[in-house]
Amino acid sequence: MSLDQATRARAETLREQIAQHNYQYFVLDDPRIPDSEYDRLFRELQALEAAHPALVTPDSPTQRVGGTPLGAFDEVVHRVPMLSLENALTADAMAEFDRRVRRRLDRDTEMTYAAEPKLDGLAISLRYQDGKLLQGATRGDGTRGEDVTQNVRTIAAIPLQLRGRGWPRLLEVRGEVFMPKRGFEALNRRQREQDAKTFANPRNAAAGSLRQLDPKVTATRPLMTFCYGLGEVEGHPMTATHSDNMALLQDWGLPISPELQVLSGLDGCLAYFAAMGARRDTLPYDIDGVVFKVNTIADQEALGFVSRAPRWAIAQKFPAQEALTEIKAVEFQVGRTGAVTPVARLKPVLVGGVTVSNATLHNMDEVERKDVRVGDTVYVRRAGDVIPEIVRMLPERRPADATPVVMPANCPVCGSAIERIESEAVARCSGGLYCAAQRKESVKHFAARRAMDIDGLGEKLIDQLIDQALISDPADLFGLSVDALAGLQRMAQKSAHNLVAALHDARRTTLDRFLFALGIREVGEATAQSLARQFGGLDAIAAATEEALQETPDVGPIVARHVHTFFRQPHNQEVIAKLRDAGLEWAETEPLAAAGQLPLSGKTFVLTGTLSEPRTQVKERLQALGAKVTGSVSKNTAYLVAGEEAGSKLSKAEALGVAVLDEQALRELLAAATPPTD
Ligand code: IVH
Repeated sequence: MSLDQATRARAETLREQIAQHNYQYFVLDDPRIPDSEYDRLFRELQALEAAHPALVTPDSPTQRVGGTPLGAFDEVVHRVPMLSLENALTADAMAEFDRRVRRRLDRDTEMTYAAEPKLDGLAISLRYQDGKLLQGATRGDGTRGEDVTQNVRTIAAIPLQLRGRGWPRLLEVRGEVFMPKRGFEALNRRQREQDAKTFANPRNAAAGSLRQLDPKVTATRPLMTFCYGLGEVEGHPMTATHSDNMALLQDWGLPISPELQVLSGLDGCLAYFAAMGARRDTLPYDIDGVVFKVNTIADQEALGFVSRAPRWAIAQKFPAQEALTEIKAVEFQVGRTGAVTPVARLKPVLVGGVTVSNATLHNMDEVERKDVRVGDTVYVRRAGDVIPEIVRMLPERRPADATPVVMPANCPVCGSAIERIESEAVARCSGGLYCAAQRKESVKHFAARRAMDIDGLGEKLIDQLIDQALISDPADLFGLSVDALAGLQRMAQKSAHNLVAALHDARRTTLDRFLFALGIREVGEATAQSLARQFGGLDAIAAATEEALQETPDVGPIVARHVHTFFRQPHNQEVIAKLRDAGLEWAETEPLAAAGQLPLSGKTFVLTGTLSEPRTQVKERLQALGAKVTGSVSKNTAYLVAGEEAGSKLSKAEALGVAVLDEQALRELLAAATPPTD
């Protein structure tokens, strides 16, 4: 009996801890424990429940994936209709909206608006009864949607049980289910590895994942949710403003947009829209505009609705990202790994405010599937920071002399044979590093901002360096002299000096950046980080077997094979040795398997004031040791690193009793935490 009670209590504690960690991670974006620790708690709960099935509760985190695949979704009737929004495409249309709102309310002062990004996913209704998630439903036609409860339960960001207290007996929350960009890319990579269908964009991937009949499939999809409104509410009043309602939802454990802001008047809206437009490409998810809502609920009620949309809200959309133009020619470009990509040269056209004159056709399968020919009129699309692409052609506009696209037999750059492996969609130049195009691309990748971040080493300059045989691989960059550089086109003595200095500085890097910079096939930034964390050092990665590589999170058999092959090629070994001789260095750490955790795991640092070295550098060093570096001081901050002229953050840290380190103290802490390297 007493054992039972202890077991029951332990299961309860584990459930609470897991719910708390989910909340920290998804709602507050402030995880407190490493993933491995979370997994341990989860597995312990699973084991307990397996041994004592009577302990299982419906809201246990282990019960997110329940049941069996459905034959079809049930219909759900929305008691409060799920509306759509009116769109504004210009600042004038926004001004008109603001005027209309104030006229109707007879207000001559500025309105207060709440603003959030317009997420590009699909709308969801979540019904909580007495704090428990009862039902999740899609929007459907606004009145009738589909019951996707089983699938919604698998979205870790959505609480099965609300936190705290004071929630209405019935609370229906509305929000958007979407797939963050990184998750989308990883999903498509996984789909490709398994020869399964890939998704055209994150929106389609989110919709396809939520409308799966088998919840086990949905559970593997990286879905996220932000709540942005309310549906039916019974039993307890909410607050007087949209923004306070959202804050309440957040307290109850529901994820809301971290970008939510309360703004004053039309000017506030226009400034927010401009700022969001500028940040759009750097957000971790796709957005297609901004939604502005009259913040005071009483005003919303006074304004009411027109047909299917509220009068108190509007979506200001970013300019259209698709346009019609003509294919003038198709050329073939050779990439870093030799992949030969058909590229359409277009009659220049404005797409979302940017002139587009080239678009990728990806590969010959795509060319055939889309049936495009030179001379065709096509739709081009530009999404975020990705290369513009051709969406489809307009058959009715095809001229009689349109010519088919043919893959050449030889590389347009080096003349080597182009090969195409049966099972692969891509054709490749067989020239390897004999091919100047492949050499140029690998140096460009190496120097890129997210790789070695070499300031002042642009594409044109790299083209010249390779064409004039001043370098033939990335390691040669570090042997370039000011004189050699100053002789190049558009290179003055001063910029040559700066570049040599930038190269000198770039030698101090981190293992994950270096790994990413090497340009190993299928090794992106996230995989490079995983590998660095797993193995701790370059030699360990280079020596690892394919099986050992596959132990790394996110590394499947294909990536493991590419990494393994890369380090066995004599040319690559030579370049790495040359890079090390040139003085490239990074901190190495204990392998994860041996260390269990990194020395600063779970510690949050905040940096402030002027430090004697660039902040990003200090930040990376801390992160390499497992620390988290955030922007604002809270009671959860472990250390504030204060440089010269530290201001408000320092006073806040002192007020909260957070430990403050000066640079000397930081150096000592880093030295103590850094494992010795060989
Ligand atoms: S509010 C009654 N806020 O946009 C107003 N909608 O065109 C309800 N959407 O179906 C919508 N992000 O799926 C609102 N921050 C946001 C949104 C948002 C995306 C979607 C939503 C809706 C569509 C309306």
